[in-house]
Amino acid sequence: MTILVTGGAGFIGSNFVLDWLAERDEPVVNLDKLTYAGNPRNLGSLERDSRHVLVVGDIGDTRLVPILLERHRPRAIVNLAAESHVDRSIHGPDHFVQTNIIGTYHLLQSACAYWSALSGTERDRFRFLHVSTDEVYGSLDPDDVAFSENHPYAPNSPYAASKAASDHLVRAWGHTYGLPVLTTNCSNNYGPFQFPEKLIPLCIHNALAGKPLPIYGDGRQIRDWLYVKDHCNAIRLVLESGQVGETYNVGGNSEHANLEVVRTLCRLLNDMMPRANGATYQELIAFVSDRPGHDRRYAIDSGKLRRELDWRPMETFDSGIGKTLEWYLANQDWVAEVTSGAYRDWVKTQYGR
Ligand code: NAD
Ligand code: TYD
Repeated sequence: MTILVTGGAGFIGSNFVLDWLAERDEPVVNLDKLTYAGNPRNLGSLERDSRHVLVVGDIGDTRLVPILLERHRPRAIVNLAAESHVDRSIHGPDHFVQTNIIGTYHLLQSACAYWSALSGTERDRFRFLHVSTDEVYGSLDPDDVAFSENHPYAPNSPYAASKAASDHLVRAWGHTYGLPVLTTNCSNNYGPFQFPEKLIPLCIHNALAGKPLPIYGDGRQIRDWLYVKDHCNAIRLVLESGQVGETYNVGGNSEHANLEVVRTLCRLLNDMMPRANGATYQELIAFVSDRPGHDRRYAIDSGKLRRELDWRPMETFDSGIGKTLEWYLANQDWVAEVTSGAYRDWVKTQYGR
């Protein structure tokens, strides 16, 4: 048996592929367009592992995807490919509409055609798992209860709107064509291999370079934070035991204001890597203009996943953030490469494009 993972060279995708192959022997075909966010180096430890094949391509490629499905006959598709950064979606929503909406539409069509031609056990066991975000639910007030799976969709950013649209397409393909779909909506992830455009890796990178740590607005916006490996465990569990047609919220039960997150990072860095000039990292915190339409609070109720599939996060925010910092400190060459753009040259050399 084989699974097809899309976006498996990105942050969550590469953690998912690495964990999958560490946990089981089932091969992975990894379809990734290698945008700025995709980095084959994340999968360097699999270079000689015949269970992993990286295919450079687009989920919306209606020629390539059917060929891949026919050739590898996966028992499941795990769709992680997306444009994922809210700020980029504000500056240029085009790619978000293209990949997250139209790309998902084409992927669903390809999956549906493949699945429809299956029979017997192959057809019964096939699953299409779509990985989505809590941002589709919009913003909460301080005293509101956390998002459940029944919370109405109210996306506020172009990113969130494009993910919401993709969730609706997935739901409709399940409802209308009977494609066996599953959807997960997860809160903010952090951990190894996260591109240093997102809050936590950006602040680690800037802090080590002695650059300002930019806090949007008053820094009191709240996110729920989940260590990436816990998200990967949840995806595996939903794939194995989730009920077809259902959606599952995934969260860390770990709400923190942005300013608190950055101050925690600074405190840890003061101990782990004291600044040469004797100053504290907190002194680098700089308040900057707020993000337009900035959602105030996300909070996720993952009770359904806990009750039905017995999932719970293994890491607390303290343990996860400690591991994350250690990873970034030990992998400064990775950070240097992705921030210098050199890794794209490596991709051209390696894949000849
Ligand atoms: P990422 O930006 O780090 O990685 C996305 C990957 O998708 C990259 O490898 C990129 O090359 C690839 N990709 C982009 N467009 C593609 C296309 N058209 N065809 C094939 N591959 C393409 O994103 P991430 O943070 O790893 O997020 C993965 C998924 O999880 C996304 O769907 C995102 O919406 C969702 N999600 C992310 C978070 C989070 O906190 N990062 C939280 C909840 C859900
Ligand atoms: P981000 O990591 O971009 O994730 P998302 O927008 O998907 O939640 O941002 C997390 C929070 O941190 C969000 O409230 C925006 C804020 N933020 C800053 O304050 N400064 C920054 O430089 C960045 C990138 C984010």
